Amino acid sequence: MILTLPKIEDPRGNLSVIENGTIPFPIKRVYYLYDVPSGAQRGGHAHKGQQEFIVAVSGSFDVILDDGSGQRVFSLNRPYQGLYVTTKIWRELKNFSSGAVCLVVSSGEYDEDDYIRDYDEFIDYLK
Ligand code: TYD
Repeated sequence: MILTLPKIEDPRGNLSVIENGTIPFPIKRVYYLYDVPSGAQRGGHAHKGQQEFIVAVSGSFDVILDDGSGQRVFSLNRPYQGLYVTTKIWRELKNFSSGAVCLVVSSGEYDEDDYIRDYDEFIDYLK
């Protein structure tokens, strides 16, 4: 689900904000991907319990979401919009533009036990 963030337009430059209440979960962690080489793919996992909100704060990239029964592709290229990814969704990130920055807001602290990094395991986990 794409969510639109507040955008405070200003001739000096625009400003968008993400805070508790803007997105569907309390914010516990923020990380970002940058300097992604052309052709590289990121993601390739699902989370058991953590929710995420993904924003292309600069440049563009595609996020492919898979709930086990079908895939949807979201092209992110607006710093004032983000993709809400609930639990138990397999995600891949690809087609990063040069200079793209992928900001991820997470509902949890980093916890490798929350990851499913094997697609077949993901399908089994859904059963
Ligand atoms: P990974 O989950 O493979 O990145 P992505 O899904 O974006 O392609 O994480 C890459 C490495 O970074 C891995 O060794 C775990 C580490 N990492 C942290 O230490 N803390 C974090 O918050 C994140 C997201 C990853």
